[in-house]
Amino acid sequence: MNSTAKDLTEQTVTAAVVESFTHAPDPRLRELLQKLVPHLHAFVCETRLTLLEWETAIEFLTAVGQKCDDTRQEFILLSDVLGISMLTETINGARQGTESTVLGPFHLTESPKRANGDCIDLLGGKVPCVVTGRVLDADGTPLPGASVDVWQCTEDGFYDVQQPDLQPAGNGRGLFTTDGDGAFHFRTVVPSHYPIPTDGPVGELLAATHRHPYRPAHIHFIAEASGHTSLTTHIFVANGPYLDSDAVFAVKQSLIADFSEVSDPALAEKFGVAVPFRIAEIDLVLEAT
Ligand code: BEZ
Ligand code: FE
Repeated sequence: MNSTAKDLTEQTVTAAVVESFTHAPDPRLRELLQKLVPHLHAFVCETRLTLLEWETAIEFLTAVGQKCDDTRQEFILLSDVLGISMLTETINGARQGTESTVLGPFHLTESPKRANGDCIDLLGGKVPCVVTGRVLDADGTPLPGASVDVWQCTEDGFYDVQQPDLQPAGNGRGLFTTDGDGAFHFRTVVPSHYPIPTDGPVGELLAATHRHPYRPAHIHFIAEASGHTSLTTHIFVANGPYLDSDAVFAVKQSLIADFSEVSDPALAEKFGVAVPFRIAEIDLVLEAT
């Protein structure tokens, strides 16, 4: 049968696929797809991707999806180790205020509501630590009633969802509300550096490329206040390992905090901890919307 249609070639297929999205009613979806396709096609052409490599990639992505469940997000992990999470966070982060960094895959559960001064370490760890901070507007005005969602791993480097048989749900997590001075504080333990989960396809990718899986020790925060852009960030424990080679490229110098040792009994009494304890301070400065 005769047809006037021309066969698509390496030179013409990209434009044809881009054109196929012309009538997408959502303009942003149209823009994203029409920009994505040329990048993907250029990658295939530049690398002269083989069919075997393409099948391997499909199998890999299938395995990434199959590894996901309610408490495991392998796609976020993949995005993290490829630097895409950090890049997206950086280009979308507020221009003013505290720098943002990656969300990570362990914020899947809702943090239990806690009062200022509560302890989020439900296991009775070895070295007590107090974290104090304020949520502020970019001009320095304290923001009372702001929410501060916190999550961290244990002194041994595991999140509660990774050890459901050993840790009570909610260990290392808390949802705090700032007081009339925009302040919050909680008791905890100093988190450890830890490997991101390596028992899945992302771990295989790291092993195959001789990359280590470690993240420097940190505590996660999401701060939210009405009229302000929400902030997702960490504080990193100063002088710990992997600050210069984070597996997910998320360290920012401005987020490294001293967790200094305190032996003052009056301060210990004020926070309800034993001496010696460690203390870290962070101001979470939000940009107005
Ligand atoms: C985290 O900090 O919880 C995290 C971030 C990226 C990958 C894995 C873990
Ligand atoms: Fe983390």
